[in-house]
Amino acid sequence: METQTIDSENLATPTQLTPASDAHAKMIGLRPLGPLPIPQPDFELYRSTLRGGLLRHPRRLFNYLLAKYYPKAAWLPYLPTKLDIEPLSRCNFHCIMCPVSDWPKYQRAGDMSFEDFKKLIDSQYGLTEIKLQGLGEPLLARDTFFQMISYARSKELWVRTVTNGSLLHLNDNYRRLIDADPSEVQVSIDGATKETFEKIRRGSKFERVTENCGLLNGYCKEKGLVRTRMWTVIQKENVHEFLDFVPHAARMGFPRMTYALYLSGWGDEKWSESNSRLQAKSMLPENLRFRLSSSARILG
Ligand SMILES: C[S@@+](CC[C@H](N)C(=O)[O-])C[C@H]1O[C@@H](n2cnc3c(N)ncnc32)[C@H](O)[C@@H]1O
Ligand code: SF4
Repeated sequence: METQTIDSENLATPTQLTPASDAHAKMIGLRPLGPLPIPQPDFELYRSTLRGGLLRHPRRLFNYLLAKYYPKAAWLPYLPTKLDIEPLSRCNFHCIMCPVSDWPKYQRAGDMSFEDFKKLIDSQYGLTEIKLQGLGEPLLARDTFFQMISYARSKELWVRTVTNGSLLHLNDNYRRLIDADPSEVQVSIDGATKETFEKIRRGSKFERVTENCGLLNGYCKEKGLVRTRMWTVIQKENVHEFLDFVPHAARMGFPRMTYALYLSGWGDEKWSESNSRLQAKSMLPENLRFRLSSSARILG
């Protein structure tokens, strides 16, 4: 299994991971982490998707070259090459660090129709990749979500999406999602135990999501595909389980996982402030990095 952040020699105990104060953190030898790696997509697949799309779409190629070689020339008429698209904003969870929790009925706008999505993709001929989800749970869009993925893939775009994993068992969604051919699917797992998971991911059922991840990963394995990644946002409420996430990911069959150590405020003052209180990066010992990669190697 590949992890993309931290590990170590001297494994910190849970008590060491949660120092009472900055002074305590210093006293027990915790130091801030150095520069962190950025999560990378599957290199081979990414390159072949990009190359195929550029070779078969001359306008995309021209746009890509302008954007790549003249990125600062604002007067050049190139279009975005990457786009985040939020097909809906509704959610069936209300996680403690996510602004969705504040919205009336956990929704901030209506859903995007497939026709509008298609228009957007067709007009943005410069695109090479999209992330299909912002805030909200994309599987609530049902068939439209799968249709969007398939359409974007038919245009040879790199399509990454993110789900909370709660609806994968319904209507064979785990199969339909993979059959729509996304380039990468992230599943958000913020607790390695039921208690922590359900405390952060309010409205969730740990057992349901765990089982669903098994279904998704099992189906990928059956089809010989490596498409999934577990995504864990480290914060005060789960930092004590830091080392438990790797075996948890392996048990659910994830071939890759990422630790995200920064909590965003999503451009909102209130959320910036409340999420700054949840940040846990400073609680992590620097040498965790080695420990994690050896643990991942042992788990294959
Ligand atoms: C906003 S969610 C949308 C997709 C889906 N509902 C889910 O939870 O996976 C996308 C990702 O953002 C993460 N996230 C939520 N709030 C965050 C915050 N304040 N800072 C950083 N990541 C956050 C979630 O854990 C999830 O991995
Ligand atoms: S499941 Fe995703 S979108 Fe919904 S509240 Fe949690 S982080 Fe936000």
